[in-house]
Amino acid sequence: MTEIKANTYSVFITNTISKEINRFLKDSTVGYSSLFILVDENSLKYCYPQLVEHIPAFKDAEIIEIESGEENKNLEICSQIWATLSDYGADRQSLLVNLGGGVIGDMGGFIASVFKRGIGFINIPTTLLSQVDASIGGKVGIDLNHLKNEIGLFNDPLAVFVDSSFLNTLDKRQLLSGFAEMIKHSLIADSGYWKKIKNANFARPDTFDTLIESSIQIKNKVVEKDPLEKNSRKTLNFGHTIGHALESYFLEQKPEKSLLHGEAIAMGMICEAYLSAEILKLSKESLKEITSFILSIYKPVDISEKDTQRLIELMSHDKKNTKGKLNFSLISAIGKCEINLTPDIKQIKRSLNYYLEQAGSNGDTKLGLN
Ligand SMILES: NC(=O)c1ccc[n+]([C@@H]2O[C@H](COP(=O)([O-])OP(=O)(O)OC[C@H]3O[C@@H](n4cnc5c(N)ncnc54)[C@H](O)[C@@H]3O)[C@@H](O)[C@H]2O)c1
Ligand SMILES: [Zn+2]
Repeated sequence: MTEIKANTYSVFITNTISKEINRFLKDSTVGYSSLFILVDENSLKYCYPQLVEHIPAFKDAEIIEIESGEENKNLEICSQIWATLSDYGADRQSLLVNLGGGVIGDMGGFIASVFKRGIGFINIPTTLLSQVDASIGGKVGIDLNHLKNEIGLFNDPLAVFVDSSFLNTLDKRQLLSGFAEMIKHSLIADSGYWKKIKNANFARPDTFDTLIESSIQIKNKVVEKDPLEKNSRKTLNFGHTIGHALESYFLEQKPEKSLLHGEAIAMGMICEAYLSAEILKLSKESLKEITSFILSIYKPVDISEKDTQRLIELMSHDKKNTKGKLNFSLISAIGKCEINLTPDIKQIKRSLNYYLEQAGSNGDTKLGLN
């Protein structure tokens, strides 16, 4: 078991997860009046059974199940869950257990943070993306219309429990989605980690433990220094200005074609690496290395030049923008990130075209499984 201390809580990386959760519940000075476990159908089916068998307190907990999917991370579902909590007599001493991926963690954290002005919650992330990223750092929230994470706040969980054995039931596409955040961690903070990332073995998610730990360490260090994202936390947004716009674009224009968060970020990182080369003199070799590695594992995103105008409009909604300028975090070298860069629209268009060119020329050789 490894314990990583965050500002107000700990992240436990463990292969004896039930033991750690039992210990946490026993050691709690609060004495929870009731437990609620938020799940979707997949975390209920694949993850809940192995926990309830070994955690007595989970046997008495109320299960709140929602349908999986980003489209359910909205206010309507929150209202239903708040009503359920009320109906079941949840009070200020109740504990919400978020068991699932980033949708469950983000929305459950939000629900807990404002229910009766705030009840405690813990995260048990069950996707790679939520283990290395979404479950830590205290950002909780939901989407509004098609705008991602438009409503939310910063509020820490009481603890996070990470067990990579949950990844055994995750499909390859979801695994790759989480892997994009790990690529990002290496590119913004650690060139040695980038080398390990390039050698990751997808056939063996159980070998991911040390990589998961490195990613959590990087994210936690960044968040500890700047929890409210005034400055250096913005480095975690590398790939995300363009990536978030793409996600919104698919929700809005192509709801029938799913695009996972990490798939959008993977494309975003290629575009933003291109901008990094233009603006921060990231070397041509590094740009090529990043582009070809990402394109070797992710299928090309289904967009064309005609989509770029709307994508740029969507970027203008990005929460990082100030005074009408689009705000980017870019890399000056692999492992070094700078914040508050404001490329102009022409440069952003060129970066999207760079992606289209590169993805097009590599189109037949993808290893991605989607
Ligand atoms: N708060 C943050 O800092 C932060 C950071 C990154 C992403 N996010 C958010 O996280 C969300 C994406 O997270 P995600 O990729 O985990 O998505 P998700 O929660 O939708 O999970 C992906 C899919 O995997 C299924 N699943 C979960 N655990 C499983 C398991 N062990 N076995 C089999 N299937 C399983 C889910 O039911 C779902 O179908 C987005 O909403 C994004 O905005 C938040
Ligand atoms: Zn992300």
